[in-house]
Amino acid sequence: SLQLEMKNVNLKTGDQLKIKGILLHDAERFQIDLGSDEDNLALHFNPRFHDDCDGAVLVCNSKSDGCWGDEQRDTHNPLHRGAELKIVLKLSGDMFAVELPDGNEVQFPNRVKMGVFDYFRVIGDIKLTSIKIS
Ligand code: GAL
Repeated sequence: SLQLEMKNVNLKTGDQLKIKGILLHDAERFQIDLGSDEDNLALHFNPRFHDDCDGAVLVCNSKSDGCWGDEQRDTHNPLHRGAELKIVLKLSGDMFAVELPDGNEVQFPNRVKMGVFDYFRVIGDIKLTSIKIS
């Protein structure tokens, strides 16, 4: 499955990322990570399609020095296996907003109070078609 890692991306409050792709037909999960390095993530956005507890669920979390924080779980998951996907990730300082294809938004607090994001990663069961930063 896909692993795309970008370093020194220098993303800041006010920036947004448009991520487009196609979910694999047998997708189990993918994740979009934003932070300072792989052990320090301000946002881990992790759609799952077959979670043991919740089935289709959008999991968000943060990671500090390699340790996960408390998960936020949203069981409204409008993402579908085999379907095209467009997600807009908005960095608004104290919050992250992830706009979903149905217009709904998942919000996650910037718990670790990160101001500059130098590390961006997408991993999982998705074929990326474009990433636009503005
Ligand atoms: C774990 C999973 C990680 C990450 C984390 C988020 O169970 O192995 O990949 O998704 O949950 O809290």
